Amino acid sequence: MSVNGANPLRDAQDRRLPRIAGPSGLVIFGVTGDLSRKKLMPAVYDLANRGLLPPGFSLIGFARREWEHEDFAQEVYEAVKQHSRTPFREEVWQQLVQGCRFVQGDFDDDTAFETLKATIEELDKQQGTGGNFAFYLSVPPKFFPQVVQQLKKHGLAEKAGSWRRAVIEKPFGHNLESAQELNQIVHEVFPRDEVFRIDHYLGKETVQNILALRFANTMFEPIWNRSYVDHVQITMAEDIGIGGRAGYYDGIGAARDVIQNHLLQLLALTAMEEPGSFHPKALVAEKLKVLAAVELPEDLGKHTVRGQYSGAWQGGEKVVGYLEEDGIDPNSKTDTYAAIRLEINNRRWAGVPFYLRTGKRLGRRVTEIAVIFKRAPYLPFESGATEELGQNALVIRVQPDEGITVRFGSKVPGTSMEVRDVTMDFAYGESFTESSPEAYERLILDVLLGDANLFPRHQEVELSWNILDPIEKYWDEHGKPAQYPAGTWGPVEADEMLSRDGRSWRRP
Ligand code: BG6
Repeated sequence: MSVNGANPLRDAQDRRLPRIAGPSGLVIFGVTGDLSRKKLMPAVYDLANRGLLPPGFSLIGFARREWEHEDFAQEVYEAVKQHSRTPFREEVWQQLVQGCRFVQGDFDDDTAFETLKATIEELDKQQGTGGNFAFYLSVPPKFFPQVVQQLKKHGLAEKAGSWRRAVIEKPFGHNLESAQELNQIVHEVFPRDEVFRIDHYLGKETVQNILALRFANTMFEPIWNRSYVDHVQITMAEDIGIGGRAGYYDGIGAARDVIQNHLLQLLALTAMEEPGSFHPKALVAEKLKVLAAVELPEDLGKHTVRGQYSGAWQGGEKVVGYLEEDGIDPNSKTDTYAAIRLEINNRRWAGVPFYLRTGKRLGRRVTEIAVIFKRAPYLPFESGATEELGQNALVIRVQPDEGITVRFGSKVPGTSMEVRDVTMDFAYGESFTESSPEAYERLILDVLLGDANLFPRHQEVELSWNILDPIEKYWDEHGKPAQYPAGTWGPVEADEMLSRDGRSWRRP
């Protein structure tokens, strides 16, 4: 088909969307991995299906596997069939497959990078990609420097009149020092504005909605501060174990895996000041200020907890403990659960604890931000009337059952005055007919458009490591993670951590 012609695959529903990628292609390093199969390839298809990719869009897989182009195309096909969000349409697939290519090789293989270069040039001619390519590094972090340097060496990192971008998956480094080194290496090759560090939580609709909730409304912001807020709980709980990811997870653990990035980003969006606009620079400036104001507790032994799941029955199934998982060192001290208490040293938040917790093999999968308000200073009711009145709360449910719940006290119907907690709910599914795009759809599209708003900048990544490093160091030097049976809500030590503050974790 003509690469310059109209895209016949753009459906009527999406025509009103102005954000459509121009001529371009995507190269995925680590294309045989789980992330690529479950998220990246399906997201590319979903974007194509929604008419948001140019007709000649090209997808190049780079990996060691001995595949021909057809084998790669078949892999993409199966990934799309199995994991795409939108329905399969043969005509969309037929168009997408025109631009699928595979390059076989190791990351130190110069010939493979020359083949990649030739493949890109050939696609420019055949598919009209205009020389615009994003390089997606979905590979273990130890390979980031090598791949980036190979791109430079083979003249792939820039092309006059076109754009070249680097997309880097987490974890971005292992600690502050390695993140700084990595930033330096990447910035020597790609201009800062062409580096996109992925934190897929920022691509989630519900996470972007934190900004809409806070800054498009008048009713929340006046009470969003230390005068009214008692504390904030940010929870990311998963019911799954580590699956086949032992190689990645052991030695990394829960805090590095998700607190350093996802949870600290949620904290930043919840606690930051209003930016002057949503221009990336304005938004980042506010996130940086709040991350820089984060203070760790003095006694890390009392105000942080790490845990490891032990074997138990979960959801009617007997599951093994972390130390019995395939590929895990039986003496591993890696945390599969982490809870920490932070404070934010500024006028808005001084003295308000932010409790962050995450874990694998917990009671159920849920991510939420719960803003818990102070009790009314005086309750003019008879004693006993407010026994079942808790604290007001506003809960942003990131997933599942995306939405927002407000909890407040209400009079129980009847002749006496008795007050009890009730909830008021907003559910995405009920208020909007469109289903939310997957985070990776949004983020890949933004990369192709050069829109950096939903990508952490290098200083954010470094400040986040700066928060986590002392905690990891403390854990390294002190004992072992506490055990918790799979399917529970984490170690008892985590409950004690909150009860010492006169509080308790929400049971989401
Ligand atoms: C990833 C972590 O960033 O997020 C995984 O590396 C985790 O360990 C995953 O399972 C969870 O993502 P989501 O979108 O399912 O909450």
